[in-house]
Amino acid sequence: MIVDAIISILFGLRYLFAYDDLSYNKIATQSPIYRRISEYEANNALDRNKTTCMRTQAIGLSSTDNSMWWKVDLGGLYNVYRITIMFKSYEEQPELRQRGRFAGFSLYISTSNERMNSTLCYKDGPQLPPLNFTTLCIGYGRYVIFYNERMPGVSYPSDYQLRNLYTELCEVIVQGCYKHNVYGADCNVPCPRNCKNNTCYIHNGTCLECNPGWTGPFCSNKCVDGRYGQNCLNTCTSHCKYNNVCNHLTGQCEGGCDVGWTGSFCEKACVQSYGENCQHPCRQHCYNKECDRFNGTCLTGCTHGFHGQKCNKVFSHRAINESLTVIPTLINIDHKSTYKEFDQYMPRMLQVTI
Ligand SMILES: *[C@@H]1O[C@H](CO)[C@@H](O)[C@H](O)[C@H]1NC(C)=O
Ligand SMILES: *[C@@H]1O[C@H](CO)[C@@H](O)[C@H](O)[C@H]1NC(C)=O
Ligand SMILES: *[C@@H]1O[C@H](CO)[C@@H](O)[C@H](O)[C@H]1NC(C)=O
Ligand SMILES: *[C@@H]1O[C@H](CO)[C@@H](O)[C@H](O)[C@H]1NC(C)=O
Ligand SMILES: *[C@@H]1O[C@H](CO)[C@@H](O)[C@H](O)[C@H]1NC(C)=O
Ligand SMILES: *[C@@H]1O[C@H](CO)[C@@H](O)[C@H](O)[C@H]1NC(C)=O
Ligand SMILES: *[C@@H]1O[C@H](CO)[C@@H](O)[C@H](O)[C@H]1NC(C)=O
Repeated sequence: MIVDAIISILFGLRYLFAYDDLSYNKIATQSPIYRRISEYEANNALDRNKTTCMRTQAIGLSSTDNSMWWKVDLGGLYNVYRITIMFKSYEEQPELRQRGRFAGFSLYISTSNERMNSTLCYKDGPQLPPLNFTTLCIGYGRYVIFYNERMPGVSYPSDYQLRNLYTELCEVIVQGCYKHNVYGADCNVPCPRNCKNNTCYIHNGTCLECNPGWTGPFCSNKCVDGRYGQNCLNTCTSHCKYNNVCNHLTGQCEGGCDVGWTGSFCEKACVQSYGENCQHPCRQHCYNKECDRFNGTCLTGCTHGFHGQKCNKVFSHRAINESLTVIPTLINIDHKSTYKEFDQYMPRMLQVTI
């Protein structure tokens, strides 16, 4: 509250009450180091006292260094929303000169300590920045880096200062939420439940990513029928029962499998079985227990003594006895017979279905 009060006195801005001040009294570092470092140390931008400022050694076309950086370690990974910078202003000197020094700076947010490996969240220019600067900087990270440069051979807007750039930041206020998995100006609204890792943008509650099976800005919509998984990128197998709808999270077929298929994804063809989910074993008298996986028709004939499409028919003893006299050879066709042969040669036999 004291910090808030100081900030509100500094800025006279109501909105700064919102969100947490993630950078207050954190650890900052900077380069190139100004010679009177004790007066201008990096942490002066984090003490919330506008009269103390950090300063780096001059950079520019007539200096040893062409670039400078200042960075704060927030001490943990946080959702950042906005960055406010109070640049040093000298009452006795023209404001434009100061603005021309700061002009063109970049702000990065990063999970690692390296600027090269960071996300740029603001690049100033070509207009000169105000000395009381604020910008949205929406991202997730631990380090916030202020960077500026004046490189030889680069053409800068005419009101940019090119020499003797002292960078003086009096306050850098990084706002966001200390709490994870929340959003809103008071950092107290839980992120939507299907956000991946419960992480959402802290200003509007949109999920950064969704859990598998969910889609939409708030991850509140299931994948459309026939899709499942991360970003709904996976297509259900085409062998689920009921128009191929599968579980939107896992891709498993919930209503079971189409005729001829089994497995939790209905990806396996029936073996020695047939029907929905391969629930029926092939008839016991199919030769080699091989049958058509869709309709159960025995594929390679029947075992001895049986016939019919499912080899579930036997001849009555009378018929067999009769047949012995009629076409004895047929009964002796070793261990294998086909219903076709019987149907063809013995249409008049009395058949019994078992
Ligand atoms: C701000 O810093 C100046 C210089 O060190 C000091 O005189 C002043 O008391 C500080 N103000 C607050 C509010 O701490
Ligand atoms: C960039 O950061 C990631 C982790 O955030 C790390 O794995 C990677 O090695 C870094 N790359 C460089 C060049 O620093
Ligand atoms: C910044 O300063 C300008 C004048 O220099 C003023 O008009 C503006 O309201 C200030 N903005 C903030 C956010 O304090
Ligand atoms: C998930 O969020 C927690 C904080 O809630 C964080 O510490 C962790 O690194 C995150 N994991 C991934 C994989 O993003
Ligand atoms: C929420 O903010 C993010 C980041 O600025 C943006 O990409 C997204 O579209 C916003 N969502 C809504 C619903 O406005
Ligand atoms: C069963 O399927 C086979 C093809 O494997 C086909 O020849 C046969 O006519 C079908 N039987 C029925 C009763 O549909
Ligand atoms: C079939 O013939 C055998 C002898 O050849 C006989 O014992 C049997 O009773 C007959 N079965 C029928 C149903 O006629």
